[in-house]
Amino acid sequence: MLKISPSLLAADFAKLGEEVDKVEKGGADWLHLDVMDGMFVPNISFGPCVISSLRRHSKLFFDVHLMINEPIRYIEDYRKAGADGITVHLEACKDVRKTLTAIREKGLKAGLSLKPATPVKELEEYISLCDLVLIMTVEPGFGGQKLILSTVEKIRQVKELCEKLGINNVEIQADGGITPENLGMLTEKGLTVAVAGSAVFRAENPEKVITEMKKIN
Ligand code: DX5
Ligand code: ZN
Repeated sequence: MLKISPSLLAADFAKLGEEVDKVEKGGADWLHLDVMDGMFVPNISFGPCVISSLRRHSKLFFDVHLMINEPIRYIEDYRKAGADGITVHLEACKDVRKTLTAIREKGLKAGLSLKPATPVKELEEYISLCDLVLIMTVEPGFGGQKLILSTVEKIRQVKELCEKLGINNVEIQADGGITPENLGMLTEKGLTVAVAGSAVFRAENPEKVITEMKKIN
């Protein structure tokens, strides 16, 4: 069944605890936490102390998306803060293999993300080290953007790559500009985890949107 991972970036930062409660009670499967360093992406969001405060507040799977250069430097900090899974960008790591291995060695789920222009074939040598592949459907850095249609096909390419290699336990996640209206086109290609920021947190009734999205399969 499709998992929904609301992105906290679109929440009201003045009341983060309540915002997390709202989506947890509303049926979210995971919580997507976007960490930005102002270097890998042109924006800065939040870091481990915000995540560790929320950890005491929530039982959701913490799906931490690191949009930072050389994320290997911070894996232990995010583990301590309460991450369940850490996703890094292929474009941000000097040694992708070492980074994914370090995440798994800490007992966390390892994710690898591709920016819109990075081809799926670059994943091939690393996919056996991944629990999740994240296809960015917008340029990373900001919430509230429009989904880039040309990225959608990459979801199917990831699915085909897994089939070709006989790998069947990798989550395929997409992130950026996802709405109840365009989600069907992504699940059709093999999406298993949908990240949604604005569509959920900016909705009048987030629970209704999550329920609606979970029905799409
Ligand atoms: C963008 C982030 C996304 C973003 C999604 O760099 O990785 O997770 O918050 O937000 P929406 O759903 O509003 O595009
Ligand atoms: Zn994200």
